Amino acid sequence: MAETIAPDEQAIQKAAQTLAAGQLVAIPTETVYGLAADATNGDAVAGIFEAKGRPHFNPLICHVSDIAMAERYAVIDPLSRKLMDAFWPGPLTLVLPLRPDTHIHPLVAAGLDTVALRMPRGIAGKIIAALGHPLAAPSANTSGRISGTSAQAVADDLGSKIALILDAGPSEVGLESTIVKVDGDAVLLLRPGGLAAEDIEALIGQSLRRMDQRAAIEAPGMMASHYAPAAGVRLNAHEVRDGEALLAFGPDRAADAHRASACLNLSETGNLREAATNLFDYMKRLDRLGGAVIAVEPIPFTGLGEAINDRLVRAAAPRVPPIEELEQIK
Ligand code: TXA
Ligand code: MG
Repeated sequence: MAETIAPDEQAIQKAAQTLAAGQLVAIPTETVYGLAADATNGDAVAGIFEAKGRPHFNPLICHVSDIAMAERYAVIDPLSRKLMDAFWPGPLTLVLPLRPDTHIHPLVAAGLDTVALRMPRGIAGKIIAALGHPLAAPSANTSGRISGTSAQAVADDLGSKIALILDAGPSEVGLESTIVKVDGDAVLLLRPGGLAAEDIEALIGQSLRRMDQRAAIEAPGMMASHYAPAAGVRLNAHEVRDGEALLAFGPDRAADAHRASACLNLSETGNLREAATNLFDYMKRLDRLGGAVIAVEPIPFTGLGEAINDRLVRAAAPRVPPIEELEQIK
């Protein structure tokens, strides 16, 4: 069972140590409680998906202690910088290009080349500063349940799955952060949330561009902009065909594995958590090696296997144009 502690100096150190050891900590933020892991530790981030029981990998928000930390991981354009200066710390998340030398683990961004960053108010910032790394943190609740806005709610829902809960009382805002992305001179509203759109519009002197409703419901991580390999993807491969690269799993190989133009094994021992950690990186690497098709060995659907299979099915699906293009076709 998770230990619940008051948010004093000692708690900050204890939380930072627990996170540095790769464990999960529920931390208070002004919006909702976050289920946090060190964003540079893939195994710890996989643990978030495991604890939440998420059936798919959507990209997670990364929390930083200040703008200088954001600059170490992402490329910040002047308009995004202006929004940070005005609203950080606070309930505003900005989607930004990842720096090529970023140390944020690919599982955090679900293989995208952008990352959602925010600087929370309160004790969370002190924990991040003490750790020295950003924290990946979705809302602290089981997938499909409502977001945890008190330590008790988090303990009731996730207490058996996490190490530590910091109790700073009920969340001030009680609603997730507003997510925006700067696109040229425009600012896209990706998710309405705890910071009113009007407040942003007053600062930038223009209206936010609303996402198409259907697109908004699909969630940004599921859209066509999402990383999909250039290569075709063939799932449940029991044999390797000519010209295919092989994404392997576990100790046993598909027939004719020696024919593969390249082979990477998600987990030699068949550990699904390790496989989740390697998934996006290995797909990209096999794609870069240039095979026409990536054959994927069967992966069980238990535990994180469901999310791994969900992502692979999306990668294998026929490509469709983004919704804006569909609308123009008519
Ligand atoms: O208030 C909040 O934002 C809370 C607290 C804990 O900070 N966090 C939160 O995080 O709601 P999370 O990870 O559940 O938010 C994920 C949302 C999803 O809608 C996802 O699609 C979007 O952020 N997102 C994350 N990375 C993205 C990216 N690179 N591009 C577009 N959307 C992204
Ligand atoms: Mg949530």
